[in-house]
Amino acid sequence: MTQSDLGRAQSLITSIPDYPEPGVVFRDISPLLADGPAMRAVTEALIEPFAGQFDIVGGLEARGFLFAGTISAMTGVGILPIRKAGKLPRPAAAVSYTLEYGTATIEGPDVLKEGERVLLIDDILATGGTLTAAQSLVADLGAEVIGSAVVLELTALGGREHTGEVHTLFAE
Ligand code: PRP
Ligand code: ADE
Repeated sequence: MTQSDLGRAQSLITSIPDYPEPGVVFRDISPLLADGPAMRAVTEALIEPFAGQFDIVGGLEARGFLFAGTISAMTGVGILPIRKAGKLPRPAAAVSYTLEYGTATIEGPDVLKEGERVLLIDDILATGGTLTAAQSLVADLGAEVIGSAVVLELTALGGREHTGEVHTLFAE
């Protein structure tokens, strides 16, 4: 990983005012996703504090899946897909939560072994509703969250007051 790739990754995240509703500044990671070296740098930086400490990576639908995928390929661990409600044929647990713009429910499949160590990954921490729900979901599934990491934290929304410690690469 080079600092210039990581710095470019941050600069590639674009702010879009009034999306998906007036008053919300949406952070669009699409330009970052399109840049290979930036994606590699972000992937390495997300897992840096957790080397050897996790057995599986939990990706939060949808954008968290993208980084869970790169982490899985880089480290050889599997992926726990944490899905929006109604997408899994046999959900083993479900948790509802509030978003910056709406409400949602997440569900998880019955694939975790008891005590398995999960690293949770998402692109953005905003209110913390999604990540807090995912932490509860993993506990309900009988596994242990050993850490949580996001690419960008929107600090003004106070998410980490709900989530506890989160490894964040960039903060605004
Ligand atoms: C976004 C983002 C995080 C979540 C963060 O996902 O990818 O998962 O919001 O917000 P919070 O901290 O306030 O919970 P979204 O639910 O918009 O879904 P998407 O990834 O499918 O677009
Ligand atoms: N998820 C929650 N808040 C967001 C924002 N402002 N931009 C992108 N994704 C988000």
